[in-house]
Amino acid sequence: MKILIVYDTKYGNNKQIAEFIAEKLRNATDEVRVHYAKDISHKQAFEFHPDIFLFGGPIRAGMVSFTIKRWASHFAGLLTKNGITLAKAAVWATHGVFTSDTPERFAWKNVARKWEALFGKVPASKKLPGVTDVSVGGMEGPLEVDWQVKINEFIAKVTNL
Ligand SMILES: Cc1cc2nc3c(=O)[nH]c(=O)nc-3n(C[C@H](O)[C@H](O)[C@H](O)COP(=O)(O)O)c2cc1C
Repeated sequence: MKILIVYDTKYGNNKQIAEFIAEKLRNATDEVRVHYAKDISHKQAFEFHPDIFLFGGPIRAGMVSFTIKRWASHFAGLLTKNGITLAKAAVWATHGVFTSDTPERFAWKNVARKWEALFGKVPASKKLPGVTDVSVGGMEGPLEVDWQVKINEFIAKVTNL
């Protein structure tokens, strides 16, 4: 199996998640590639012919980060245009902690559907339902205390899809 993991990041938290996933999935038989979205074109990703596609990134101003939104949309479009259906796909996202000062439109609960809409474009036979979300303290992190537990569950669910 070929596994492609693509992320966006500003402060490094999503890089940490993506590399953690890659490390856990690496074994003798699978080929795992992990890339910052700006370091791989969707055409290069297409030519890799992944079986499994995992992607994630931060929410920004109540939206999916622009970089991962554009990247995943283009990649999904390329797959669809060529009639390719991946074996499996899953998505995660990071966001700040909701407080009484957080405007509603910036809250994860209101942004999750935008990630789901993006994920909906990805053609895959088996898709992990929903979006696995991890919060970060402040803007720059660190990741929430239980992030490795959450991401291990994410990995286990993807493996068992
Ligand atoms: C310009 C900007 C806008 C942000 N907007 C939101 C937001 O609307 N809601 C939220 O929960 N977090 C928001 N955040 C926090 C980011 O989600 C957080 O910095 C990110 O998840 C950290 O991941 P990274 O280290 O991979 O960049 C924002 C961060 C920045 C820099």
